Formats: sequence, C-alpha cells, structure tokens
Amino acid sequence: MPSSAPSVTVIGLGPMGQAITRALLRAGTAVTVWNRTPSKADAMVALGAKRAETVAEALEANDVALLSLTHYEAMYDVLSQAPNVLNGRTIVNLTSDSPQNTRAGAQWVRDHGSSYLTGAFMSQGDDITHPLSYVFYSGPEKIFRALRDVLTPLSPPEYLGPDYGLAQLYYQGLLTIFHPFVLSYEQALATIEQSGGEIDRFTPYARRFMDSIKDFMVYFTDAAKQGGWGDIASLRMMHAGAQHVIDTSNDAGIAAPLTRTVQEVYARAIEASTEARPVRTYELIQERRPSPREAMK
Ligand SMILES: NC(=O)c1ccc[n+]([C@@H]2O[C@H](COP(=O)([O-])OP(=O)(O)OC[C@H]3O[C@@H](n4cnc5c(N)ncnc54)[C@H](OP(=O)(O)O)[C@@H]3O)[C@@H](O)[C@H]2O)c1
Repeated sequence: MPSSAPSVTVIGLGPMGQAITRALLRAGTAVTVWNRTPSKADAMVALGAKRAETVAEALEANDVALLSLTHYEAMYDVLSQAPNVLNGRTIVNLTSDSPQNTRAGAQWVRDHGSSYLTGAFMSQGDDITHPLSYVFYSGPEKIFRALRDVLTPLSPPEYLGPDYGLAQLYYQGLLTIFHPFVLSYEQALATIEQSGGEIDRFTPYARRFMDSIKDFMVYFTDAAKQGGWGDIASLRMMHAGAQHVIDTSNDAGIAAPLTRTVQEVYARAIEASTEARPVRTYELIQERRPSPREAMK
C-alpha cells in the first residue's frame, strides 16, 4: 500500500545534518541518509532512518534531497558522484557559503536538471529546536511553497525571495555581527575576570545591554540611510573610548586586537574628515574595492 507520509533524503550528517534528520523523523517524515564517513549514519539508522550506500542510491530514494555540508565545494564533490541522477529532482541546500557561490551552485544543479532551493539556519548552534531558531530560504517561491510543510519541522521558515543568494546574504549579514560579538564578549569576560571582577555578576548586565543594542540597531539603520552616523566630535569620542577599553584590557594583561581594529577605523575617519565635512565610518566601510575575484578577471 503506498504511504502518504512525506519522505526525503538527507546528505551530510555533521551536527546540523543529524539535527535535521532527528527533526524530520520526529515529524513522521521517512528519511534516507548518506554521509561521506559512513559511521556517522549509524545513530540516525538507530532512530529509524534508512541508510543509502552511495550518493546515487540516496538521490534515487526520494524526489527531494536536503544537503547539509561544510561548504559548496563539498556539494560539487558529492553531487558529481551521481550527476545523471539529478534530473527531475529537487535539491534543498542548507549549506553555508557566500551568496555568489550559492548562485553559481544553484546554476550548476539546475543545469543538471534539478529544481533548487537554498536555506541558511539561524539556529542556536546546532539546537534547531530552540524557540529562537529559524531558517532563511530563497529560490523559486513555487518550490518553497511546495516544500513548506516538509521543511517546517526543521525550524520555522523565513522565505526571502527568488534570488538564490538572498538566504546566504542575510545569514552572512547576521554572522558578520555574531563573530566579533563572540570574541569581544570573551575579551570583556577575560578582562572582568583578570581584573578581580566576577563574570557571573557581569553577565546579567551584559544581557540587559543587549536590549539597548536593539534600539541602537534601529538608530544606526536610520543613520545609515542618511549616509552614516557621527560628526567629528563623536568620531573623536569613539576613538578615545576605544583607547579606554584597550587600556582597561591591557591593564588586565589582555590583548585587545578587535578594539584596536575598531580604533583604527575611527582614526581613519578622523584623518579623512575636516571640521566642515566629517567622513563617517559607514562611508569608510562602504568603500568599494574590487574583490579578489573581480581583480583576477
Ligand atoms: N553547526 C552549527 O551550529 C551550524 C549552525 C548554523 C549553520 N551551520 C551550517 O550548516 C552546515 C552544516 O553544519 P555542520 O556543523 O553539520 O558542518 P560540518 O561539521 O562541517 O559537517 C558537514 C558535513 O559535510 C561533510 N563534508 C564536508 N566536506 C565534504 C566533502 N568534500 N565531500 C563529502 N562530504 C563532505 C561532512 O562529512 P564527513 O562526516 O565525512 O566529514 C559532514 O557530514 C555548514 O554549512 C554550517 O556552516 C552550522
């Protein structure tokens, strides 16, 4: 008797691929899995997933395959093992990479006859069940709509539009905030700890500070629409403020490379400014330089 339960293939069983497989199985979706290192499939098979021995077998098992790989290079490595099986299928690639690499990858997959959707996990690490987790998707709306019910158990979906690069663009935008946040927070914790403060006492204040950052985001977005924030006095104030952070960290024996980088940007802005015309950091950040890829052309 034909089953009405949805079924998909998951390729790539790192922490995210395993979390995806578990979420799908919990939702009652039948899952076939493949991973380059086969032993990583064992735990998924124990939970009820079906193991495919080859990429071709994994793709043939279902119309829809979800990819969760380290980067797009891995996608080419994997799908090139079975290019003839791609025709008529749908590939949903949940792998992180740049928007440009994503668009090129989408073209490659479509040239092989598959439909394509890209996704990017805004999850709390690999905890895709966290209430704050969601997934950006982009690509043809028709494909997103057709797959929405199957994808929803992974985390609530946020569809951004037909451009294949959009999901990665917004994801990488948020990671642009996340990476320096992690390191600057660690710098703050280390400075507090090595200066005789208590990090447990500091953390609630840091969390409260995050609420004011939310307001600053709206404020700086409005400023960005006007060309950026700050006059010459505020640029000097930020430069001096960065020096105080550097001094506080250095007094605790902590190097402060991120704050030094921040201070350098303000120094450049001050140097480029005149009393009549400030050059704002947003202008410096927006300076268009040929990317290494463009320079190679
Ligand atoms: N982990 C997170 O917290 C998190 C959160 C949000 C988004 N993401 C993104 O989600 C994606 C997956 O994350 P992850 O943490 O699961 O990544 P991961 O640990 O790097 O593993 C991904 C999978 O890629 C496979 N792989 C890598 N290179 C390959 C190649 N050349 N050929 C075949 N398979 C290859 C690995 O196979 P092997 O097992 O054989 O090595 C592994 O199964 C990444 O793009 C990541 O940036 C991760």
